[in-house]
Amino acid sequence: MFTTHIETDEIISVAEFRARVLAKVTPGKAETLVNVARDIVALANNPDLIATRFTRELAQWEQGGFSLYSPQSCVLDSFEPFVVRLNFWPLLPSDPRRRNILARVLSYDDWHDHNFSFLTTNYFGAGYETEIFEYDVASVDGLVGEVVDLAHKGRHQLSRGKVMLFRSGKEIHTQIPPTEVSASINLLMTETGSALQDQYYFDRDARAISGYVESVSSKRNSLFAFAHHLGDEETDGLLQSIAREFPSARTRACAYEALFRRDASFVERIGEHVAADPAPIVRGVLAEAR
Ligand SMILES: [Fe+2]
Repeated sequence: MFTTHIETDEIISVAEFRARVLAKVTPGKAETLVNVARDIVALANNPDLIATRFTRELAQWEQGGFSLYSPQSCVLDSFEPFVVRLNFWPLLPSDPRRRNILARVLSYDDWHDHNFSFLTTNYFGAGYETEIFEYDVASVDGLVGEVVDLAHKGRHQLSRGKVMLFRSGKEIHTQIPPTEVSASINLLMTETGSALQDQYYFDRDARAISGYVESVSSKRNSLFAFAHHLGDEETDGLLQSIAREFPSARTRACAYEALFRRDASFVERIGEHVAADPAPIVRGVLAEAR
């Protein structure tokens, strides 16, 4: 993992930051995000980011488009394959129900990896604290309960001038609630096919995958459950090609599962194919169906 501390008085605009990212970062190469470590701190030195953004949004209120990605996150700029986001880290409310919901939304005390890479620094406040482990997504099958090789990389506070890099499928972390309201700036980079990859939750004590982060891939997989009940004559063919070709093993497994439920004769008809899949999670679906 990569962290650094940068001191600079330079202040740059969102437009200048975009120009520097385009000049210094190579799309698809997460390590090159560190080339703009100094520049993201210079952007974070700009006190007008929120005010400028909100004034622009409010001036366009009649069009109805407000680009808060969620109540905790606001897009400052977006240019393929990059997104510059401002994240707010509020204090947790004392009401236990609201506290639990917000803690979940903000990944406070929730170990997870990411299916995109990002560089981050503090914008205001004390900054959240985070504890980090490193692993390699390429070495796991993606089964819930699967034990994963985790290397502890310590606890880090995203204080002023601190820059951290989180690489897709490498860093696992949890956010520890900040002691005061804070905001961070993220430069996100999506990599080819990253939206097709799963994002996992982890059980730190068991050192194992504990679930799947609700993402595009989770939504896609729940569609298969509907396909099982509501599909038409095209559904079997579609499920078969997804099951054979999709990069995410979990998606392939869900597609086979839906197919076998729709028509049990597929178990024998394409069983050989399934048995040849490299991922145990996929072969497990066959074993279960037989
Ligand atoms: Fe995260």
